Amino acid sequence: MDYPVTGIHHLTACAGGAQEDIDFFTKVVGQRLIKQTILFDGRYAHYHFYYANGNAEPGSVMTTFPYKRVNGRPGSGQVQCIVYTVAKGTLPFWVDHLNRHRVVHPGIHQRFGQPFLHFAHPAGLEIEVIEDPDETRVGWSTEEIGEAESVRGFHGPLLSVREIAEEETFFVEALGFRKTGVDGVYHRFEIGKGGAGKTLVLLHEPNRPSGSWGFGAGTVHHVALEVADDRALAEQKGLYEELGYTDCSEIKDRNYFHSIYVRSPGGILVECAANAPGGFARDEAFNQLGRQLLLPPWFEHRRTEILSMLEPIRVPDGHGPVVEPATIAASRRADATFIREETEALTT
Ligand SMILES: [Fe+2]
Repeated sequence: MDYPVTGIHHLTACAGGAQEDIDFFTKVVGQRLIKQTILFDGRYAHYHFYYANGNAEPGSVMTTFPYKRVNGRPGSGQVQCIVYTVAKGTLPFWVDHLNRHRVVHPGIHQRFGQPFLHFAHPAGLEIEVIEDPDETRVGWSTEEIGEAESVRGFHGPLLSVREIAEEETFFVEALGFRKTGVDGVYHRFEIGKGGAGKTLVLLHEPNRPSGSWGFGAGTVHHVALEVADDRALAEQKGLYEELGYTDCSEIKDRNYFHSIYVRSPGGILVECAANAPGGFARDEAFNQLGRQLLLPPWFEHRRTEILSMLEPIRVPDGHGPVVEPATIAASRRADATFIREETEALTT
């Protein structure tokens, strides 16, 4: 049977301060800031930052909400760790780079025969860089990190679960992953050709108390998987319902992509996302991505009010200065087009 999911699309986490998050992801991890926008849900404005590789590809997109209002509680039933691939032989560079930034790490370890380095974001988010000899994606260069050493995108997240079996059934039967290995407490699942960007690893932690599910600084909120288009989203929603995962959301308009969300049996929120026409370059030129705060068309008329709720930020050199707000043609949220009438109706 063919499944709609093709690999990882993005990971979304709650950070702490906005500036420390930008500095960490652009200078320490070395990703490209590709979008400054806001969280689309709720009564209060929060930044929503998108970081990615040089080509702003799905499978490399890390998104964060700086969210100081509440601290998250790390635990099982959560994405435990954000794992990026780097080229073979580059971990000694990363040891030096992290040392230069006074980022604590326990040295190089291995999982499934691949060496990796584990470290943490200032808000506590856990991050790894893992060597992958088959990685071919294009990274992003910074003053300190050359293209050869750069992170290329996600390998795949580590998901902490108390029990493997139900989560395994979910990823295999509902999403089309296949189990490709066990290494101690790690259970690896891959989709398509597997490898970087097409891998999930369950971390078996049977005695670890559950982590928080809501937004909270220092925790990853969800993992998003890529599907081709709205038709594939509708197909995936039908697959969930056929198998009894009936709490799948309606299709939501995330401006740059359309999404459905379902809570997996192990507690981890799983999104499926289909790029909207134009993707991340739909409201700013590709070579200008991330240089200014952009709002979705349905929030543009509230720009002044929204800006008053956000802390000032400075985008590091190499990502360009923050310039005048973008001019976006007025349109309404209902302008998003979905393939099914009932999902269109839910967005009006
Ligand atoms: Fe998401």
